[in-house]
Amino acid sequence: MKICRTIEEFRRARSQLDGTVGFVATMGALHEGHLSLMRNARERADHLCVSIFVNPTQFEPGSDYESYPRELESDAEKCRDLGCELIFAPNPEEMYPDGHSTTVHVEGMDDVLCGPQRPGHFDGVATIVTKLLNIVEPDVAVFGRKDYQQLAILRRMVRDLDMPVEIVGAPTVREDDGLAVSSRNRYLDDDERARATCLAEGLAEAWELWNGGERDAEALVQAARDVVLNAADPEAIDYVQAVHPDSLERLDDRPDSTVEDGVVIAMAVHVGEARLIDNLRLDGPLPEELGDYVTG
Ligand code: PAF
Repeated sequence: MKICRTIEEFRRARSQLDGTVGFVATMGALHEGHLSLMRNARERADHLCVSIFVNPTQFEPGSDYESYPRELESDAEKCRDLGCELIFAPNPEEMYPDGHSTTVHVEGMDDVLCGPQRPGHFDGVATIVTKLLNIVEPDVAVFGRKDYQQLAILRRMVRDLDMPVEIVGAPTVREDDGLAVSSRNRYLDDDERARATCLAEGLAEAWELWNGGERDAEALVQAARDVVLNAADPEAIDYVQAVHPDSLERLDDRPDSTVEDGVVIAMAVHVGEARLIDNLRLDGPLPEELGDYVTG
């Protein structure tokens, strides 16, 4: 396995790979969620490439860019164990040299969910992922469904810009009690960790209603929100919303909020220092780890 620090070095090594390439973009601090993306990509292609880059342009001022964990050595070990052949780990100056002045903006998909609280975040993501896809030139790139808005925006971007790559959305990896695995879970103390399951519980409640035939988005959202409120103050909830799975159009604030199967219930909740996000697309069985929260 080779670790490349420059675009030129990566391109040279990439050109030696015969066959198809699967790609996983990460910001490092690799956990089981990332590893499952890598296994997924590895199964779909002959070779696996991973990028590790804490992208400054997707952090809002005052957020955790400086303190975001950087663990290249142990991350590289994990990548090697999963059969990764090339790691691209540039520094910020390599990706954003002086005079860098292009931003990729996907119109109309960041005024819901995390968009209003994270101005500029999705432009930062779209820009860095465009650059990474141009550098890595993968056949398939795997992103987690946990960051649902990111996934939907990247799918739209790749479609609109005719980028020759297949985007795959991989299932959210959960702890046994349903908490979605995230780099930010490390900020939770014991009490917060116990309360953090409220997101999973809220989603399970919405799924149970939907499974029982409820198709009113407002009712599904309200039910999920009520469960979260058992563990979190109202001001700790950034949002609980229902959105269309492709366009991300908000569906729970319309006069007639009847929805089709496939609606996505998504939420962001502050628990202690951590801002946690989670979502569930209502169109199939409940993820196994959420089963304990279903009462009916
Ligand atoms: O999901 C992430 O870790 C990041 O947003 C990504 C896709 C690596 C872009 O920096």
